[in-house]
Amino acid sequence: MGAQYEVRGNVAVLTLDNPPVNGLGYDTRVQLAQGVDRAVADAAIAAIVITGAGRAFSGGADIKEFGSPKAIAEPNLLSLIRLLENCPKPVVAAINGVCMGGGLELSLGCHYRLAAPGVDVALPEVKIGLIPGAGGTQRLPRVLGVETALNIIVSGDPVKSELLASLPGQKLFDQIVPEDLMGAACAFAAVKAAEHQSHGTPLPRVRDMKVQHENADAYFAFARNMVKGMAKNFPAPAKCVDAVEASVKQKFDEGMVTEREIFIALMMTPECKALRHAFFGERAASKIPDVPEDTPQRKINKVAVIGAGTMGGGISMNFLNAGLPVTMLEMKQEALDRGVATIRKNYESQLKKGKLKQDKLDARMALLSTTLNYSDIADADLVIEAVFEEMGVKEKVFKTLDEVMKPGAILASNTSTLDVNQIASFTQRPQDLIGTHFFSPANVMKLLEVVRGEKTGKDVLATVMALGKKIRKTSVVSGVCDGFIGNRMIEQYSRQAGFLLEEGCTPVQVDKAVEKFGFAMGPFRMGDLAGNDIGWAIRKRRYQEKPHMRYSKTADLLCELGRYGQKTAAGWYDYQAGKRDAIPSKLVEEMIAKHSASLGITPRKISDEEIVHRLVYSLVNEAAKILEEGIASKASDIDMVYLTGYGFPLHRGGPMCYADQQGLFNVVQTMKKFAANPHDDASFWQPAPLLAKLAAEGKTFT
Ligand code: NAI
Repeated sequence: MGAQYEVRGNVAVLTLDNPPVNGLGYDTRVQLAQGVDRAVADAAIAAIVITGAGRAFSGGADIKEFGSPKAIAEPNLLSLIRLLENCPKPVVAAINGVCMGGGLELSLGCHYRLAAPGVDVALPEVKIGLIPGAGGTQRLPRVLGVETALNIIVSGDPVKSELLASLPGQKLFDQIVPEDLMGAACAFAAVKAAEHQSHGTPLPRVRDMKVQHENADAYFAFARNMVKGMAKNFPAPAKCVDAVEASVKQKFDEGMVTEREIFIALMMTPECKALRHAFFGERAASKIPDVPEDTPQRKINKVAVIGAGTMGGGISMNFLNAGLPVTMLEMKQEALDRGVATIRKNYESQLKKGKLKQDKLDARMALLSTTLNYSDIADADLVIEAVFEEMGVKEKVFKTLDEVMKPGAILASNTSTLDVNQIASFTQRPQDLIGTHFFSPANVMKLLEVVRGEKTGKDVLATVMALGKKIRKTSVVSGVCDGFIGNRMIEQYSRQAGFLLEEGCTPVQVDKAVEKFGFAMGPFRMGDLAGNDIGWAIRKRRYQEKPHMRYSKTADLLCELGRYGQKTAAGWYDYQAGKRDAIPSKLVEEMIAKHSASLGITPRKISDEEIVHRLVYSLVNEAAKILEEGIASKASDIDMVYLTGYGFPLHRGGPMCYADQQGLFNVVQTMKKFAANPHDDASFWQPAPLLAKLAAEGKTFT
């Protein structure tokens, strides 16, 4: 692993070889630099071609080294690029596949670039809160012009090589080579070497190219305005504009200094830390401590879904989208017809919006079949149950599945509150049983909580996690407990929201404070959207199961008025027919005030800071217990649940990352203050032992 050296005629071929995407890790950089030195020293070598092994040229920095001393050890990327740029023999990049971030910056240090068509080219650093840091912001404008380069840098999105090569005046690619890229690159390199040797033609360096814009000031003012709207909570996009502006207004070396200064400053921002945390958290979620990556997986070629309601339909769409055939099973034909019609309607609305083509729609619908008989699904490799949330109903379904399903089929339940171990006990094959907790709408929401029962087989877990990736979900493993990771935490958050009302807040004030913090929606708007009756049903159960647990009665009073939310056109807010705008409700405010008075509470003014801290730290404290109990295996998993399933602001990195950034010592101090509030729940605010321990040791969750 590193970079291979090979001689073809009078050309040295250096092949980046660091799977999976030839990341520019330390060994690769060292071997590349050694290869260049060797080629320069060898009189028989006239030119160098750099390419990538496998399907990538280079995906950029090696993420395994991120944040470690190896990442910046010499030769670092900047030094390597300087080495290539100043190489006395022509250096040609033969871009065979993915060319991103540092990989693209490396190629811009070469004298020439040839690429295969269909290659994804990108500078994605903005997606982790940074700007390109190895000359990308200075060199890309020189080869593509300011506007195209800035678009690529600000969006971070990949663009196909042939598209870039078709832009008038572009200097990024010397040629697009549909076949035998290496042959063409070696021949090209030999010709350039001959020209260089015989005519003394200087080797072109991107740094020497001119970059200009006819109307630079106006353009950059416009660009700044554009990114402001796009990236409210993130500093990096605006800094991309600053860096590209430097490419126009400063000399090359000064621009490089500007780029470096911006890069380093961004690296220290909480937003960048949050984005990097989320980036790595997503990857870490698929790693399960006691399930090795090479755990054998079962083949999933056919899926069955029991129940064609809200969730069953959405769940089915995920598999249809991924090209897997799905059979939906119901008790009555009408229910099946309704379910199929809803799926079709969803696809048709995507068609109307131009997000789906007719042939794709037809192909997906063709993969869908329906049945009323279990015998028709017996050969499915995976069956997901999404019937009513009642243990008795689930029991019947799983006993039947146990009888009819072929051996080795995975049996999954989409239950959101029931005990997955108990469901497994209805079958003779608990090792095949697992929870797949999708979020509504299941075809849209990114999160999938994969619930691991006591007896769930490791191969079953590995298979479902891989399948989660295939259907493009962020899959997070949760142990069995009431509410799993996400809903168990949100219950504490909702309790705090209720106490805040009793103490003097209005629903609008709480929602506004939380939305200003960055949540997509405050707790009361969220309740109105999801239906306040759902929480009511859960609380009624809790009053029986956990009579010592205190809840504010406000939400019950609201439900007693039939104000279930948007579906009844009245909830915490008023709604006008056909509209979703939440209008503050006088009636609700009076109801809350009356209730507070009945409790003898004198309303007080509560700051936005207190609102946010009570809500977010309630998540944090419950999460610490979840971690301690091993329900989640790592703090970043909890953050991924909240970022992808609960609208937690990405720029805060999730509740655990946020708590770390506040400092766990401070979090604990604040909790102690909340515990002293007579109207709150003092016992809940005792810091969870794990949190207390980390705070005392000056450590963090993540
Ligand atoms: P739903 O009421 O929309 O759909 C349930 C469907 O199951 C109905 O079409 C019904 O005819 C069918 N069904 C009932 N018993 C059946 C049986 N014995 N055999 C075959 N079909 C049967 O309910 P929804 O919302 O889709 O919920 C389904 C499951 O998903 C529940 O366990 C629920 O807790 C869970 N869930 C629901 C979420 C939501 O936001 N709605 C979110 C996450 C999980």
